[in-house]
Amino acid sequence: MKEFEQHNHDVIQVMTEDTVLKELTRSWFERSSKYEYSYHFEWMGRPIVQFPQDIIAMQEIIWRVKPDLIIETGIAHGGSLIFYSSMLELIGGNGQVLGVDIDIREHNRKGIEQHPMFKRIAMIQGSSTDENTIKQVYEFAKGRKRVLVGLDSNHTHEHVSNELQLYSPLVTKESYLVVFDTVVEDMPEDFFRDRPWGKGNNPKTAVREFLATNDRFIVDKEIENKLLITVAPDGYLRCIKD
Ligand SMILES: C[S@@+](CC[C@H](N)C(=O)[O-])C[C@H]1O[C@@H](n2cnc3c(N)ncnc32)[C@H](O)[C@@H]1O
Repeated sequence: MKEFEQHNHDVIQVMTEDTVLKELTRSWFERSSKYEYSYHFEWMGRPIVQFPQDIIAMQEIIWRVKPDLIIETGIAHGGSLIFYSSMLELIGGNGQVLGVDIDIREHNRKGIEQHPMFKRIAMIQGSSTDENTIKQVYEFAKGRKRVLVGLDSNHTHEHVSNELQLYSPLVTKESYLVVFDTVVEDMPEDFFRDRPWGKGNNPKTAVREFLATNDRFIVDKEIENKLLITVAPDGYLRCIKD
């Protein structure tokens, strides 16, 4: 197995230097995004707003970390909450999932609550950076030993910066803080005309600022190097310190 792993590692390293593949990936990503590619998938019947590659990466992380708590800001239809819960169910143990969203639509709440994987899920309605929300999140996280956090709510620089400050202390050593949609920074200037975020104002700019003063996290480049296609370049942050 070690030999196989080493071989993969070496090939992935070489692949990162392939500028043709890099350009193909970039143009594929841009082109497919015109068709709202990330909206076309489900996990166990719930819409999940993620690229399949990132779902696989999260599966690998969850297996490795075996978190007893996964927190995600930004629930939408609940697909990723159901996904995380199903992974924890497969692993066994008592792991739970906590979702936070400013607006949990009634039909989504119903769909999530009626799902067989709901048994491991709790939800908080409120802005992820609201004081009252944070109080509840910290209460829920009390005593947990392995905490994984995903940030996927409002993608402006200011909001993600605040989330990084508020949620990063919850992440435990060797676990991850995954910041989704850092890819916004790499997209063309006019791509997000109808959104409050865009080039220069997005999760990646927030991550850059955060990492300049925080020494508990490093970007796990290995993950994005093998995914190629990801919404989270420089967004898979590994916690390296207590
Ligand atoms: C991209 S969707 C989340 C997708 C989901 N994580 C998934 O994988 O299916 C973003 C969600 O963030 C929520 N949101 C926006 N601003 C927020 C805030 N300030 N606090 C918490 N959630 C917020 C929106 O209501 C929306 O449901």
